[in-house]
Amino acid sequence: MATSASARLQEPRPPASDGMNAADGPDGRSRFVRNAWYIAAWADDVTRSAPLGRTLLNEPLVLWRTEDGIPVALEDRCCHRHVPLSLGRITGRTLQCGYHGLEFDATGQCVKIPGQARIPPGAHVPAFPAVERHRWIWVWMGDPGRADPGQIPDYRWLDSPDWTAPVGEFHLKAHYQLLVDNLLDFSHLQFVHRRTIGTDAIADIPSSTERCENRLEITRWIMDSPPPPLFDRAYGGFGGNVDRWMNCSYTAPSSVTFDIGCALAGTGAPEGDRSQGIEIRSLHGITPETDRTTLYFWGYARNFRLDDDALTELLAKGASATFAEDVEVLAEQQAMLDRSGRTGFVDIGGDSAGLLARRLVAAQLAAETGAC
Ligand code: FES
Ligand SMILES: [Fe+2]
Repeated sequence: MATSASARLQEPRPPASDGMNAADGPDGRSRFVRNAWYIAAWADDVTRSAPLGRTLLNEPLVLWRTEDGIPVALEDRCCHRHVPLSLGRITGRTLQCGYHGLEFDATGQCVKIPGQARIPPGAHVPAFPAVERHRWIWVWMGDPGRADPGQIPDYRWLDSPDWTAPVGEFHLKAHYQLLVDNLLDFSHLQFVHRRTIGTDAIADIPSSTERCENRLEITRWIMDSPPPPLFDRAYGGFGGNVDRWMNCSYTAPSSVTFDIGCALAGTGAPEGDRSQGIEIRSLHGITPETDRTTLYFWGYARNFRLDDDALTELLAKGASATFAEDVEVLAEQQAMLDRSGRTGFVDIGGDSAGLLARRLVAAQLAAETGAC
């Protein structure tokens, strides 16, 4: 993206990393960017019939819908005696605590107390802006005055009629930035994903990274090489080498989408002709749950053979198996970081984009705390 606000970087020298998460505070607790939209749940999981408890940025939330279908996010803590509201029930326009029956409206205001007419001052729970978009419920945990739905990251492939996408969710036992590191690092594909999307050609191919405000655009082409097994099956057999692209878009703090695919070698894919190949949008929604756990949402969208259920199942299994490989490695990495208590990473070229991403997050955190 060659704008005046962008900087084009070719295999940038990695900024030094001390091994700490960029968002770790001096007390060892994570500091998360608050002025950002985070995915709290799949929209289908937030209903009018039963509240859903979730934790975002170490804070308990309860998600529910009013009788009008409007999604609501409140602190999951009754102001009376701090019982989780997610144990209660939805009564049309209110959420009723399951302990003594206090009822809260969509703004978090207590509007009814069984057995008394007077509502005491302070009888409310915090409410957070919530928006349904791209099949997810997004929640803003920061300054409500800055909650602009126009800033919700673009995942339009999940609900476009021109695309179809199997989707899934993992509960990752690792800090969310380890997952961002992982997704922005192409070099692990050859090793972690050998059975799914990895091929021997990947690790030696350089990538190109552009920075534009709070985004990174990373591109990589692998020319005239064997197709990855999953893509080969999805296409129905290329019968020869392919030109393969892996374009990644990162929006700080935690949105990652990929434009990936391959086409028969020499048929013009780098110039924009993808007619002899397939393209996929690999979509990753990452939400910090706690200091050491992450809500990991994914989708794997395609714009070809939309009604082919067998292909949907093949890609769903392939994508899920691929991402599960990352989830497994990252949990082991987090466990070792915690067990050893040691900081200090040795950075290599493949870490460049991840390190730049951490700088973007650090800048967002500094802006929130007025430290820049
Ligand atoms: S704890 Fe919720 S009504 Fe008493
Ligand atoms: Fe991976």
